[in-house]
Amino acid sequence: MRARMMLTTADFEDAAREALDPVYYDYVAGGARDEVTLRANREAFGRLNLLPRILRGRDKRDLDRTLFDCPMSMPLLLSPTAFHRLAHPEGELATARAAAAAGVVMIVSMASTVAVEDIAAAARTVTTERPPALWFQLYLQPDPDVTEALVERATAAGCAALVVTVDSPVLGLHERNKRNGFDDLPTGMACENLRNLRGGEPGSVRQIAMSAELSWEHLDRLRHSTRLPVLLKGVLHPEDARLAVEHGVDGLLLSNHGGRQLDTVPATVDLLPEILDAVAGRVPVLLDGGVRRGTDIVKALALGAAAVGIGRPVVWGLAADGEDGVRAVLELLRGELDHTLALCGATGVDDLVRDLVRPGFPGL
Ligand code: FNR
Repeated sequence: MRARMMLTTADFEDAAREALDPVYYDYVAGGARDEVTLRANREAFGRLNLLPRILRGRDKRDLDRTLFDCPMSMPLLLSPTAFHRLAHPEGELATARAAAAAGVVMIVSMASTVAVEDIAAAARTVTTERPPALWFQLYLQPDPDVTEALVERATAAGCAALVVTVDSPVLGLHERNKRNGFDDLPTGMACENLRNLRGGEPGSVRQIAMSAELSWEHLDRLRHSTRLPVLLKGVLHPEDARLAVEHGVDGLLLSNHGGRQLDTVPATVDLLPEILDAVAGRVPVLLDGGVRRGTDIVKALALGAAAVGIGRPVVWGLAADGEDGVRAVLELLRGELDHTLALCGATGVDDLVRDLVRPGFPGL
């Protein structure tokens, strides 16, 4: 049989579908309710056109970018995704080594199946030009002491920024998981960052408390309890983006959770211009949701995103081939990004302007 050619992130999804238990594949692939937003994230990129410039490029393009004092080999980062050991026995250890080797930031999920200290140690085993950079994602907990305990833990482990996910007052409902009866981790796997944080079951998924009663005061308390940069993930309304800046956040990660929380919210790339207008250059705005191609990255950057995140493609790489699979996904996106920049006549990622992106012409 001919070996599969792994040319695109979609090839990695196909390989992951074959490698994974269908219940776990559905957990990763799926979205909330009718999955309207899940599809919209992809469709929105497809509707945008690129209008390239000519005779002004350069033989070698600059992809580097520094954000929150973290030098990155390209403005692509690993959005936080839970439970990597469902995809591969090494779980987040493999992901962290791949991210470090590629010189990109990994945002560690609060719900990782390896402890953040061990993830940081794995990243440090990789020798690269840049020190490995990890950021830590957390959900604000109803008990601020629990939030602070998590922050202390992530800070001590060496995480360079905090990403606070605010789109989950309650958990989104994935009917695929309901039908499959998937509501907990298998025996032997746990949310390692939650062990011993409060009594009860150690490291259980159910310890990730969601609360509809959280307010800006919880965020203020966190903001004042840490010196790390704080980004908010999941702000969708421009008015909330404005409020977030007023409350002193250092950045936004514009995200609809990959279509996994409230269904029928807009695609993130469609919202980007409005959010950027609201923020008015005061803090960087990053974006995730549906990024699968170099052209998607260029479109988001040209519209003004400081960097883009990928969620599912990382898990597909991990399921397909562990550390090497994640590395391959990152390198293929780097190749596509560079190739797209060349075809757009851009000298690098700092040479992208809004004028490069046009609405598509669906009527023609
Ligand atoms: C996620 N996402 C997520 N977000 C977060 O803030 N904390 C988390 O623990 C998780 N866990 C998680 C698990 C899985 C399996 C997926 C697919 C997603 C959302 C994630 O950070 C990101 O916003 C989306 O995945 C981006 O969309 P794409 O790239 O998957 O289309």
